Amino acid sequence: MSLITRLETDKNLTDSELRALLETDAHDDELREAADRVRRSVYGEDVYIRGLIEFTNCCKNDCYYCGIRRSNKNAERYRLSREEILECCAEGYDLGFRTFVLQGGEDPHYSDELICRIVSDIRKNYPDCAITLSIGEKSREGYKAYFDAGADRYLLRHETADAEHYSRLHPASMSLDNRKRCLFDLKEIGYQVGSGFMVGSPYQTTDNLISDLKFLKQLGPHMIGIGPYITHADTPFKEFKSGSLELCLRLISILRLMFPEALIPATTALGTIHPLGREMGLKAGANVVMPNLSPVSVRKKYELYENKICTGEEAAECRGCLERRVEAAGYRVVTDRGDNIAFRK
Ligand code: SAM
Ligand code: FES
Repeated sequence: MSLITRLETDKNLTDSELRALLETDAHDDELREAADRVRRSVYGEDVYIRGLIEFTNCCKNDCYYCGIRRSNKNAERYRLSREEILECCAEGYDLGFRTFVLQGGEDPHYSDELICRIVSDIRKNYPDCAITLSIGEKSREGYKAYFDAGADRYLLRHETADAEHYSRLHPASMSLDNRKRCLFDLKEIGYQVGSGFMVGSPYQTTDNLISDLKFLKQLGPHMIGIGPYITHADTPFKEFKSGSLELCLRLISILRLMFPEALIPATTALGTIHPLGREMGLKAGANVVMPNLSPVSVRKKYELYENKICTGEEAAECRGCLERRVEAAGYRVVTDRGDNIAFRK
């Protein structure tokens, strides 16, 4: 039996088998075809769209790879008010978005109370929409309060499942243990949980990637976001090169085979390292795209990495552009909450 058939049926390979898949391009065509077949068998041609609202680029953390880290004095900081966030949702709803993703740095300005107020306002105005938060590491009580206020989903990449590697990417004030604690709390509370990692982050080895896949197996996430690490000149990692498109696509296909029901985005970072990166991501097994709903005036300021795409257009243009790209890749955008299949009523 081929490695890929084994991955498709058992969903589990040994470390050396995973290594064989990860380290050469020999299996790429077979992997991609199997991933596309599996994705079509679970979700058909559907591609779910999420309206991404990047509501603050202020952050108390200092991750070495991130352009909005607190030590980057060149970042021009901004915060959106509750009213501005609600305006983004109104525009997004008219454009057909039924999921809003509120993402930001870890910004203490937004207390748990304020987040709950924003979430409950969105919930009240748009009862048919899903609300996703991506605001970093919080207390279990905080997560529970946001959930009770109406949040459905939470995105928190584990970034790397190897503690040693984690400590090379983050200052000592951050720990892999706390990141994992957050993810398991979120799951227990009842969120649809998304995790993931950057591909090609500094010092990353194949062993690290194998640990990432095994950690995801243990967590059982409903969504998995991966994208290439991309250099930012105003970070301590400015000398490191960006991650590779090929490895990222290979990992998307492996993830699709290991997690047939997962919602996997073709990320903006993938579209940044190659003009057709997101289309290739969809063909490799991804089934979500996250166009930008943030006001055009702040888009360039949410600069996690260099040359980030889609920082100029209006939300309507982003929506139309994505729809055409999805169709050109052979899929179709659906106006739907796009829940993980296990959460559908
Ligand atoms: N603060 C929240 C958190 O930590 O989950 C959400 C915002 S954070 C900026 C979102 C994601 O951006 C991170 O999980 C990280 O994987 C990604 N990111 C940060 N810097 C990046 C870079 N240089 N290249 C690619 N992705 C990056
Ligand atoms: Fe903000 Fe990493 S720099 S969470």
